[in-house]
Amino acid sequence: MLEMMRWATELYQRCLLDSPLAEAARRYLGGRGLNGETVRRFGLGYAPAAGDWLVQHAANAGMSDELLEKVGLIAKRQEGTGHYDRFRDRVMFPIRDVRGQTVAFGGRILPSSTYTGNAPKYYNSSDTPIFSKSEHLYGLDLARQAAAKAGFLAVVEGYMDVLAAHQAGVNQVVATMGTALNERHVQRIRRVGVPRVVLVFDADAGGKTGVDRALEVFVSQDVDLAIATLPEGLDPCDLLVQQGADAFRSVLAGAVDALEFKLDQVVAAGADAGIEGRRRAAEAILGVIALAPDMAGPAGAIKQQLIVTRITQRLALKEETVWARLQELRARLQGRERKSGAGGAVAEPPEPLPVEEKELLQVLLAEPALAREAAGAIPLDQVRHPDAAALLRMLYDLVAEGAPLAHLPAAQAFDLVRARIEDPRLAKLALEMRDIGLQHAERAAWLERILDEFHRKYQVEPVTQELKNQLRAASDDAAALELLRRLQTQPRNPPARPVSAMN
Ligand code: UTP
Ligand code: MN
Repeated sequence: MLEMMRWATELYQRCLLDSPLAEAARRYLGGRGLNGETVRRFGLGYAPAAGDWLVQHAANAGMSDELLEKVGLIAKRQEGTGHYDRFRDRVMFPIRDVRGQTVAFGGRILPSSTYTGNAPKYYNSSDTPIFSKSEHLYGLDLARQAAAKAGFLAVVEGYMDVLAAHQAGVNQVVATMGTALNERHVQRIRRVGVPRVVLVFDADAGGKTGVDRALEVFVSQDVDLAIATLPEGLDPCDLLVQQGADAFRSVLAGAVDALEFKLDQVVAAGADAGIEGRRRAAEAILGVIALAPDMAGPAGAIKQQLIVTRITQRLALKEETVWARLQELRARLQGRERKSGAGGAVAEPPEPLPVEEKELLQVLLAEPALAREAAGAIPLDQVRHPDAAALLRMLYDLVAEGAPLAHLPAAQAFDLVRARIEDPRLAKLALEMRDIGLQHAERAAWLERILDEFHRKYQVEPVTQELKNQLRAASDDAAALELLRRLQTQPRNPPARPVSAMN
């Protein structure tokens, strides 16, 4: 697989650098301010639009279709035989392991592409034996030395942000692959010997739930995790292009640790709410901390002590009170975890969610504003999995209560949902599904497809099935003909659904 990835990396790169097919791609990268050195250092390439460009090259080079399929570069055609390229009309970003070997690709569609609008902006290889999207960090191979020297590694969101930073000489920068930073990322970072991580967040509320997750990681991992905030409306790439490397460096230098960041947030939110405000601030923080697994060993105990001390100081509370409340919250959460097991000695692994239910929650948790439309189209009893039903009910309740889901930034709307989830296992599931949902562009269109799928499954298919059964049992030709006619007019693609008229 690694060998094949190397072959593909070189092929895409040669195409970008030399081929007449890559004219628009070269112009695009130039327009984004990337120079040839950066393009070469990151091994960028281009996958032409044809649809069988790679398939043809593979055939000529004697590469195995089966293996190419396994690494996610081509896929089988649905009709008949043959394969097609999964990456079409995209700038290719090789995703490399710490040793610099390509293990996957991210592909960005060219804005001028005819596919733009129908396809996600970025498309990543799916997980393979050599690649795990939720663990890899883009650019780590090129950032580790600079990070060791700087004493920290900065984590941004986008491939482009990494490229822009490195080009500007800020090399200790990597990106996650469209997911929030998690424990496994942190362990990888620790393994390359970097003790401090600076998470770079947008100025907008988009970072809000990111902050809670960061705090969880901070509490449970042996890492110094800090949060840096970008100026309003700019991502790192914009900032670097508009204001230069020093502006970005000072953003990084202004990072505060995750606990301090959260304290600032809750204190600011409850500033003029007096005692009640302080109580709520404490609850908000302790709730997150209680949910996080403890860091083991004496180092963990020290970290906890430091965390509690800091909370008591900032919120002017007694230390015993904070400890007591933290224990209480933990006991409650752990009690629930035990109860939510199967009841016997061995908890059954929970059954996986049906695909359409999972996708429904992925899209709705990523964009709760869409819950209203779903509520008008899918009744709760059509959702079979108890976890899916529980989460969907919370969303529908919020809709029914008139919560301003559509008027809040998506992250804040999600906070409203999150606040209702008491079961930590469900909370974790919701966060994971939301992360996946956030990677999809065009979420409204995606929801339409999911609603159609529900419609097909619960309305069209049962009727079709019933008609077929009757047809099989039909005793005379006239009845059979009538049934056939009805079967043929039975919609395969669902008719347009009426726009929901809830409330
Ligand atoms: P951005 O949209 O911020 O990407 O998404 P970017 O790198 O800044 O790209 P430009 O500037 O628009 O070219 C951040 C990251 O989220 C993931 C990618 O990893 C991307 O780099 N993402 C985004 C996807 O996986 N799929 C998408 O459709 C969009
Ligand atoms: Mn960008």
